[in-house]
Amino acid sequence: MMFWLSFLFLLSIIAINDVVALVVADAKRIPSTLDGPFDPVTVPYDVSLRGNAVDLPDTDPRVRRRVKGFEPEQISVSLSVSYDSVWISWVTGEFQIGNNIKPLNPNAVASLVRYGRSRFPLTHEAIGYSLVYNQLYPFEGLKNYTSGIIHHVRLTGLKPSTLYYYRCGDPSISAMSDIYHFRTLPTSGPRSYPKRIAVVGDLGLTYNTTDTISHLTRNNPDLVILVGDVTYANLYLTNGTGSDCYDCSFPDTPIHETYQPRWDYWGRFMQSLISKTPIMVVEGNHEIEEQAGNQRFVAYSSRFAFPSKESESSSTFYYSFNAGGIHFIMLGAYIAYNKSAEQYKWLERDLAKVDRSMTPWLVAAWHPPWYSSYKAHYKEAECMRVEMEELLYSYGVDIVLNGHVSDEN
Ligand SMILES: [Fe+2]
Repeated sequence: MMFWLSFLFLLSIIAINDVVALVVADAKRIPSTLDGPFDPVTVPYDVSLRGNAVDLPDTDPRVRRRVKGFEPEQISVSLSVSYDSVWISWVTGEFQIGNNIKPLNPNAVASLVRYGRSRFPLTHEAIGYSLVYNQLYPFEGLKNYTSGIIHHVRLTGLKPSTLYYYRCGDPSISAMSDIYHFRTLPTSGPRSYPKRIAVVGDLGLTYNTTDTISHLTRNNPDLVILVGDVTYANLYLTNGTGSDCYDCSFPDTPIHETYQPRWDYWGRFMQSLISKTPIMVVEGNHEIEEQAGNQRFVAYSSRFAFPSKESESSSTFYYSFNAGGIHFIMLGAYIAYNKSAEQYKWLERDLAKVDRSMTPWLVAAWHPPWYSSYKAHYKEAECMRVEMEELLYSYGVDIVLNGHVSDEN
């Protein structure tokens, strides 16, 4: 599912793949809010799409490892709380999967970004942190996984609406990336907006995903919002066998397995887009990925950088940020959201701090929709709605973005 938001210039939604209801836009140009109001048009579900999502295989050149040694791969940009700071993330070293995995030492490779407003010289330098994560299944016949070294570096002091060049890696071992670039978002203000924001959910890594990402890339967004369900690595066994229907195909597994290399494949495939266009992700049900020790969401929380601390959240599952005159609130639907939970209290604090004179638009995003008439996932998020709906209404949230109710990736 994907649609576009172009604030100030439009409140129309162009949809592809599986969207149920959308505002019809002129084929030649995206209308502005001044052309509205528009009557919503319901588009019947195209049943021919069902069952046609085929994953990219691990032999596809777009998901193969193309770097050597500890050279950076899976490079991405994400936002901090405002235009003046972004996160750069990447992976070095090779993952291992099997029975005798030996986690890499995350401190063995430095986390350094050189950046600046011109390619040569890159005048600024920032140091970040690194980690590895494990996905462990202590059951006979199942394989364990340990990731490459994941690096996150925060750049600060950036100017608004400005092109920056950067390289990441470890210069001490001659393992720096090529030069990439990104553009910072505009400053916050009532007349200051990104031109185009892509919103996508339930993305996966199928041939349909490649069409979605090609379309998205051609439209040159300033920002990508991914509203959960990222790689669908949990439709696989640890031996790499996949199925459209995990529960039907693998009824006897002792734990719901995953095949974590799908995350690496996804990071490689997405690099060409998200090394230049910031992406902001919030978790979906496919990111739960339970493993030994009752751990959940480990790949999600490890692989992406989130502006949690910067937005005074104590969790990777909910956070907020500004994109020009828009305040985005990303919420977690698979952790506690009741009125006594930390997430709810954080949401109250965050909403109370929003200055609508600087960010007139207030947008909230989470994975499973509160309102859907489609039979799949019907009222799954009703408890969350009961807890949080009144609070969001009381602060006048303008737009809610969800994913989850989809049949194709
Ligand atoms: Fe979902």
